[in-house]
Amino acid sequence: MEIQAPKGTKDMLPQDAYLWQYVESTMRRIAALYGYREIRTPVFEHTELFLRGVGDTTDIVQKEMYTFKDKGDRSITLKPEGTAGAVRAFIENRLYAEPLPCKMYYLDAPIFRYENPQAGRLREHHQFGMECFGAGEPSVEAELIEALLTLLKELGLKNLSVHINSIGCPACRAKYQEALREYFRPHIGSMCDTCKTRLEKNPLRILDCKEAGCKKYTAEAPSILDYLCGDCADHFARLRTLLDAREIPYQVDSRIVRGLDYYTRTVFEIIMQSGREGLALCGGGRYDGLVGQLGGPETPGVGFGIGLERILMEMRNSNSLPQAGTVTDVFVAALSDGDRTDAFSLTQQLRAAGLKADCDHAHRSLKAQFKFAGRGIPYILIVGGDEKQRGAVRFRDLNTREEKELPLADVIPAMTDLLSGVQPNQ
Ligand code: HAM
Repeated sequence: MEIQAPKGTKDMLPQDAYLWQYVESTMRRIAALYGYREIRTPVFEHTELFLRGVGDTTDIVQKEMYTFKDKGDRSITLKPEGTAGAVRAFIENRLYAEPLPCKMYYLDAPIFRYENPQAGRLREHHQFGMECFGAGEPSVEAELIEALLTLLKELGLKNLSVHINSIGCPACRAKYQEALREYFRPHIGSMCDTCKTRLEKNPLRILDCKEAGCKKYTAEAPSILDYLCGDCADHFARLRTLLDAREIPYQVDSRIVRGLDYYTRTVFEIIMQSGREGLALCGGGRYDGLVGQLGGPETPGVGFGIGLERILMEMRNSNSLPQAGTVTDVFVAALSDGDRTDAFSLTQQLRAAGLKADCDHAHRSLKAQFKFAGRGIPYILIVGGDEKQRGAVRFRDLNTREEKELPLADVIPAMTDLLSGVQPNQ
């Protein structure tokens, strides 16, 4: 029986590789402009990291983690998000002892969540994230939001809206949680079982519930913005001043609480107006308590994560995918069997000169070699016959139909000249 990929996973196929590489190189370039350097952390971590980091009342921890015992009986979890691993690495490698802020990004990090697969929601996806440690000023949130908007606009995405909120600090949030309990208590009997367990433990999570029966109550719930302490309100006001100064439009949306427990103060999401309802293109926020909570020195943190598949889906939907480049620019055909070794050697010389060249590897006839090259390779060099006797090859331009003889000594300079300016993007 044919084996299929597990539900909710997707192959990245060779013909789409240029799209991923294009998106990734744009991300790397923008991260560098803001002083963020790459970090790579393991695909799996000790489960406890996510229980303590992401929070044991979140959907991610309660319902979505890929957790298993390894052969040493340790509980291991495939990364369900990128921040906790970055924080663990920041602490374990004592990056807090270096000059702060410490700015890092991860790219193409595989993330695993046992979700109900649908468009834009996968069980394995890949994230680009930027995380900044050791900076408490709202200018970090502002620069991250601007970096994101720059990235998405460069990728051709339009109609983006920025949604921001503040969920306060542990001090002001305690009062808000009490207000939420009071508000939800009379309705909790008709709400889902998960919300029932969250009422006492973490009522903020109720706001995140996706059940229709619960959503009708969450719509009218008190707003966190009415409960912010002076410092948190000031932080939020200063963020708004910075966004205003940069003329970045945003909406204050007190319903954004995010699905992870580590956030303090600012949370934000970027949503495509034409996108699917409930699917944020990107999410992030401040997590000033997380480094301390995971055993490091108290250090503020801010960051965001964005799914590469979601970006590519929106680029496809809005027709902003770039054109594919050529896979091979020059095909070296062998006129007869006796010319195959020379064709092979010339191909290698072209590659050594930095040109995307290929030859026949399937013992095709000359006609079949032409047919093969005709599917997208612009130039053919034919090795053999009279030209070979004269120390030359036959050149053919498949677009203009131009044909000429090229002395062997001229092949590399002529082809290099012809192909200069062609971007090797596959
Ligand atoms: P998140 O909102 O859970 O945040 O995920 C960030 C982004 O990852 C989403 O906006 C979306 O683009 C993508 N994403 C999430 N789940 C899926 C899925 N099942 N399928 C496809 N794409 C998905 C975080 O993970 C935080 N760690 C972000 C962060 C970094 N906050 C601070 N620093």
